[in-house]
Amino acid sequence: MKVAGRPMPHESAGAHVTGEALYVDDLCGRFAILLHAWPVCAPHAHAHITQLDVLPALAEPGVVTTLTQADVPGEGDSGANRHDEPLFPIEVLFYHQPVAWVLAESLEAARRGAARVEAAYAPLPAILTIEQAIESNSFLTDQLRIVDGDIRDLERSPVRVKGELRIGGQEHFYLETQAAIAWLDESGCMAVHSSTQHPSETQEIVARVLGVRRNQVTVECLRMGGAFGGKEVQANPYAAIAALGAWKTKRPVRVRLTRELDMAITGKRHPYLARYAAGFEPDGRLNAIRIELYSDGGWSLDLSEPVMWRSMFHVDNTYKLPAVEVTGRVCRTHKTSQTAFRGFGGPQGMLVVEEVLALAAQAVNLPADVVRQRNFYREGDHTHYGERVGDAGRIEEIWNTLKASSDFDRRRRDIAASNAHNRHFKRGLAITPVKFGISFTATFFNQAGAVVLVYRDGTVQVNHGGTEMGQGLFTKIQQVAAESFGLPVSRVRVMSTRTDKVPNTSATAASSGSDLNGAAVEDACVQIQTRLAVVAAAILDCDPPDVRFEDGHASARGKGVEFGALCETAYKQRVSLFAEGFYRTPDIHFDFATSRGNPFYYFAYGAAVSEVELDGFTGQCRLIRTDILHDTGDSLSPIVDRGQIEGGFLQGVGWLTIEELLWDERGRVSTAGASTYKLPSWSEVPDVFNVTLLERATQPGVVMGSKAVGEPPLMLAFSVREAIRDAIAAFGHGRAITFDSPATPERVFFAVRQVRASEYTTGR
Ligand code: MTE
Ligand code: MOS
Repeated sequence: MKVAGRPMPHESAGAHVTGEALYVDDLCGRFAILLHAWPVCAPHAHAHITQLDVLPALAEPGVVTTLTQADVPGEGDSGANRHDEPLFPIEVLFYHQPVAWVLAESLEAARRGAARVEAAYAPLPAILTIEQAIESNSFLTDQLRIVDGDIRDLERSPVRVKGELRIGGQEHFYLETQAAIAWLDESGCMAVHSSTQHPSETQEIVARVLGVRRNQVTVECLRMGGAFGGKEVQANPYAAIAALGAWKTKRPVRVRLTRELDMAITGKRHPYLARYAAGFEPDGRLNAIRIELYSDGGWSLDLSEPVMWRSMFHVDNTYKLPAVEVTGRVCRTHKTSQTAFRGFGGPQGMLVVEEVLALAAQAVNLPADVVRQRNFYREGDHTHYGERVGDAGRIEEIWNTLKASSDFDRRRRDIAASNAHNRHFKRGLAITPVKFGISFTATFFNQAGAVVLVYRDGTVQVNHGGTEMGQGLFTKIQQVAAESFGLPVSRVRVMSTRTDKVPNTSATAASSGSDLNGAAVEDACVQIQTRLAVVAAAILDCDPPDVRFEDGHASARGKGVEFGALCETAYKQRVSLFAEGFYRTPDIHFDFATSRGNPFYYFAYGAAVSEVELDGFTGQCRLIRTDILHDTGDSLSPIVDRGQIEGGFLQGVGWLTIEELLWDERGRVSTAGASTYKLPSWSEVPDVFNVTLLERATQPGVVMGSKAVGEPPLMLAFSVREAIRDAIAAFGHGRAITFDSPATPERVFFAVRQVRASEYTTGR
């Protein structure tokens, strides 16, 4: 049986469950004389620091030293792109911003020491909302723009919708908070364990802060306890602080944020404000759409610009937009610096077009699913940025298959009948599609390296540049290597991610971890296998291309040699048993000046049908059933992919229905903790949850025919938002229903009240 494509549990599933899986902070016990770090946080969203006296901290028992700008041998900045993130600021730019750090023998001593630091501030006015930022002309980027077709068709259209949509942010709530341990290695160079999605960039930032070259710094990531984009760049400052502390004290230093601190100071998914206008035909076909997007970027640039680009690339979702004008601009506010989060801006862009189509369906008095389907891309269509939508036929195939398998039309009728009899509880049903572009839009990131080592006994170590955050990348890599050599996975060990094994790697992000690293690993394996085939052919008396690697043997013509014995023979013949692999995604390019090109190698597709029941007294919704059909190509690892689809969907449900980030009037995150920030859990899992992978879906040109899966399923949760809209509509008649996101019970309650009020005034 093939190893790739086999349903296998996550390679660490057992260790996750027993607690044996190690994360950065679990390694603390291995370091003697470890120091603990705690920040001094500013109690203002915006202020000048008029005084900062760290000496009193030293009077606290257990405190060893403090870290300020004076200790920085290099550049005291962790901003990955713009260098706009001072580690020790002179102007405070968000509430709780660290202004200095204290190192102590225990965490408690460090906290007490930090409390003794004497700081004085001159508060300045703070910008806390997108509206305030627009008014004050406070932006982190210029206006970005994509145009296509003749936008004047909007005004010429017989049916028009127009409005505003506010989209809330989202806390990553990775189970493992930001963490790093740094120490000087045997050679006096800097070594760092970091919970980072991007070890090479963490290495770069640590080197920058210490003022050393990159070869003086080694960064390792064992695994992360979840990241979801929150550790794509935002692991860097904590690794830098740990490294700076170790540099200064020559002792190992540990940084680990508590949950409250992590939620208070790290970036989140970007909140958005969208203004839209669109013109339709009476049959629901879209003519033209204009969308203005504003995101709340927070205090520094971070990844906000590419996030905004991805929003603008995704305002089409699965729909042909004949004429488009979409603009985007990142607002600078005095808040946490918003960052990558599963979907990377795509979800916000897609939500806008789904909102517009839902309103259009109400305007033309057609079922929303009919209007959606009428606007689908067809084979040969191009997106608004000029990329051909390859396999556009899959959109309709998935849609029709799922509608049938979920019994959509019959349930539609049943729900209408039961709603007619139920005054206070209404059900809603909706189907929504997903199309998501796969590749980093910054083309150069689309490369990966690997080093595969085969030992004389026929066992294998695989090194690659990707990081494991629970998404199952290592499981897939193990399967790819095992499949290549025809070995059981037990013979293949995937090593932790280290910058001294594979250099200049990209972040594990954009869902492309297995596409890129899997292909690099496969490349290395094929090279070794080609050499081994020559050795085997001599033994088996055949031609090298005839040798097959299966079931732990190299075989041909009914004869075989055990893989370990073959490796020993190859070694004796002085044949190299290791190789470097490399992969660069072909055929992608994008010109940001003209907004034209092929930023994506391919698209991932899916669709979901959700049914909810809404309690009109409370606005509470229960998710009764969800059916998903998702395209993972020829899945490398079906159990892993199913987990990604279920988890991604539920994370999307959380974002769209219950997770609400609030900042108070001082600019403080007032939902910094699990007690005030509601997360989805078992209770939000639909009562009936049918997840199916699209069959016969081989993706040409990607490792073993697979497709990326990490982010796209999050957007399947749109079906829940639309089912809620459908249920709200059932409380009244024919009124356009719009509500901001998330659709919390409170918002839903008021939407229901509005719909009911209009029902009474029209006398029905
Ligand atoms: N799944 C788990 N369990 N934990 C995570 O942190 N991150 C998501 C997704 N799935 C994440 C996850 C995000 S944001 C991305 S980009 C991808 O995994 C990254 O991994 P991949 O490229 O290997 O799919
Ligand atoms: Mo994922 S948001 O690309 O780390």
